[in-house]
Amino acid sequence: MRRKLVAGNWKMHGMKGDLPQVAEIAAAARANPDVDVALCVPFTLIEAAAGVGAGLPIGAQDLHENDKGAHTGCISAAMLTEIGATLTIVGHSERRGDQHETSHDAWAKSAAAHRGGLKVILCCGETDAERDAGRAERIVQSQIEKSLPDGASGDWLTIAYEPRWAIGTGKTPTLEDIAAIHAIARAKLRQMVGDAADGIRILYGGSVTGANAAAILAVDNVDGALVGGASLTAEKFVPIIEAAASLRQG
Ligand code: PGA
Repeated sequence: MRRKLVAGNWKMHGMKGDLPQVAEIAAAARANPDVDVALCVPFTLIEAAAGVGAGLPIGAQDLHENDKGAHTGCISAAMLTEIGATLTIVGHSERRGDQHETSHDAWAKSAAAHRGGLKVILCCGETDAERDAGRAERIVQSQIEKSLPDGASGDWLTIAYEPRWAIGTGKTPTLEDIAAIHAIARAKLRQMVGDAADGIRILYGGSVTGANAAAILAVDNVDGALVGGASLTAEKFVPIIEAAASLRQG
């Protein structure tokens, strides 16, 4: 059975004054040991968050595909691990949109992260135009096909399905739509890595809150959540961790 993972993505939010939130989230993670919890913060907060997080896995939100070199403004896996990161998000739709990253970039970055000892949350998900055109399933299959790194296994890789139109909008797909995409993603993983697919968690992300988490997390093949806005404070994030924990016990 796959353990649920509730991961926060602070995006470009978070200053030193927010570190008490990290400590509170870490305390909630310790109080709910049946659920895996992680927090991906801005680069500038990783070291301090790892300090106050006391065991809470702290991650980055991106990295460079090369191990070192002349890449102004970029950051490597080794730099991230040195300051206490243990995971990173790769291929988030905001990077695909704002920085024009492709699935090939996500593939290269996932491989670099793994080489450097980081766990990876690899994102995929369709736009609203793609969903309206009936292409959501095909897009997710193709993104996984093009971005899944060699040797993918649940020991270090997690997939996050995040429909772009659901991110930060308060809109979510129906539970049936989530189930359909997660089943397609699982089948694609199985086709690519065989039985190892059973160990790879597939998170749902996009407007997850304390109010909808229990229903979403109970959907087949939903192994956790990647949470943006509702991860910024312990007050909003802890109920999502608790929803995952109550399912685990139920
Ligand atoms: P949201 O963001 O929870 O604010 O919709 C999710 C994400 O982008 O990871």
